[in-house]
Amino acid sequence: MTRAVCPGSFDPVTHGHLDVIKRTVRIVDDVLVAVGTNISKNALFTSNERVEMLTEECAQWSNVEVTLFEGLLVDFCTANDIDIISKGLRAADLGYELQMAQMNRQLTGVDTIFLPTAPQWAFVSSSLVREVATLGGDVTAFLPERIAARTMERVASRDAGTARDV
Ligand code: PNS
Repeated sequence: MTRAVCPGSFDPVTHGHLDVIKRTVRIVDDVLVAVGTNISKNALFTSNERVEMLTEECAQWSNVEVTLFEGLLVDFCTANDIDIISKGLRAADLGYELQMAQMNRQLTGVDTIFLPTAPQWAFVSSSLVREVATLGGDVTAFLPERIAARTMERVASRDAGTARDV
């Protein structure tokens, strides 16, 4: 039985992320979607909100579980009997993703598979979505409907000065 993790910050989850999860589901028996914190990014949603949103979106697959993770991804993999890290790969991310995959393999031997991002989502990233939404642009094409609505609501409430847990 092969178990893979799809890790990410998913802030917010995009159609591109869900496409990678869907394709991973076809390759392995079990998928854990692990919501982590990228310490170099300012979060729009709390980690619990991101888990909640992903859990709703992933309910369509019976072999996908969504969970939080903290600390090193390789430690999460060891603790959860994960064989493979599965990640979407955009051309621009190759250098950094390769470096992380090699570091992770060096640390515990866990390997990474890269799925080329679907061409229609190749330009979509959560960071760009946050930037476009923050500056008043329409992000509905890049996100599931409920996530787009929550993203626009969050940006509006943040602009209005609502306190948030990040
Ligand atoms: O969606 P992102 O921001 O690309 O996700 C990045 C994430 C959270 C998967 C990555 O930052 C990560 O693996 N963080 C855990 C800490 C860790 O293991 N760091 C060493 C990486 S070699």
